[in-house]
Amino acid sequence: MPLPTDALGASASSAEQQFERFEQVLRHFKARPTDVIIASTPKSGTTWVQQILHQMRTQGSGGFDNINDVIAWLDTPNVDDSAERLLAQYDRMSDPRIFKTHCVYETTPGVKVARIIVVSRDPRDCCVSRYYHTLNTRQSDISFDQYFNRWMKVLEWFRHVVSWWPHRAETNLLWLRYEQMLDDLPGHVVRIAEFLGWQLSRAEQLEVLKRSSFEWMKANAVRFVPHPMQHPQEFIRMGVAGSYRRLMTEEQSRAVLQKARRLLERDCLRFLGL
Ligand code: A3P
Repeated sequence: MPLPTDALGASASSAEQQFERFEQVLRHFKARPTDVIIASTPKSGTTWVQQILHQMRTQGSGGFDNINDVIAWLDTPNVDDSAERLLAQYDRMSDPRIFKTHCVYETTPGVKVARIIVVSRDPRDCCVSRYYHTLNTRQSDISFDQYFNRWMKVLEWFRHVVSWWPHRAETNLLWLRYEQMLDDLPGHVVRIAEFLGWQLSRAEQLEVLKRSSFEWMKANAVRFVPHPMQHPQEFIRMGVAGSYRRLMTEEQSRAVLQKARRLLERDCLRFLGL
């Protein structure tokens, strides 16, 4: 079963209702071979990959009020529509459809049919980024230490990576790492285009790159927030690797790595640079 996506913050009863609705959506969703599903751990660069893919799909001309209007979030906790209406709406979408999810492999629909793009990032940066996200959405004054302890117990990041790792070599799956995208975004646009079989001219590639830059997305942050936020521009926050060091103690960082070393395979740790 997927965790309700905002399980780290939502109240128990609303989380249960969300869980039931999206469990229905996940169970009845009909994937198509042309679909692309972004399967990411929260805060690993999901929105960035959404923007890259949507711009690629529209040859760098894709406009929208909010990115989540053009890329549906399969396990979103925030839509009030019924499961039936959501599924009917997905049926009407034209190809190539793009979806995002934070589900583990076992609960992601269409894993054998759709093209899957897994996105992951250093768990310490995911944790700190998610802490700021929580403050931004909930006006919560939870301390980082409290948040960190909860984050370690929920195990969401670890479960996600553990579940997807055995499938990394499947031909319909491409695994992207946030840190490598920061190092070489142009190379990643080419890699994604090859994986999906999407053709882009050089000029279109440049347009995709411009609109997927941190600066462009920060300047248009209000179009990327998945929930109402106090400070939308803080959703596209720092966009760097290793900023966890500003908040996380050495001891907390070690605890994350220890857990990763206990739960992940050696070649997975190596692949993730942990
Ligand atoms: P930080 O909070 O560390 O800055 P998600 O979309 O999965 O919630 O991930 C959000 C993280 O991706 C945030 O990290 C955000 O700043 C970063 N991000 C979003 N767009 C980006 C871009 N164009 N380049 C680099 N990082 C980006």
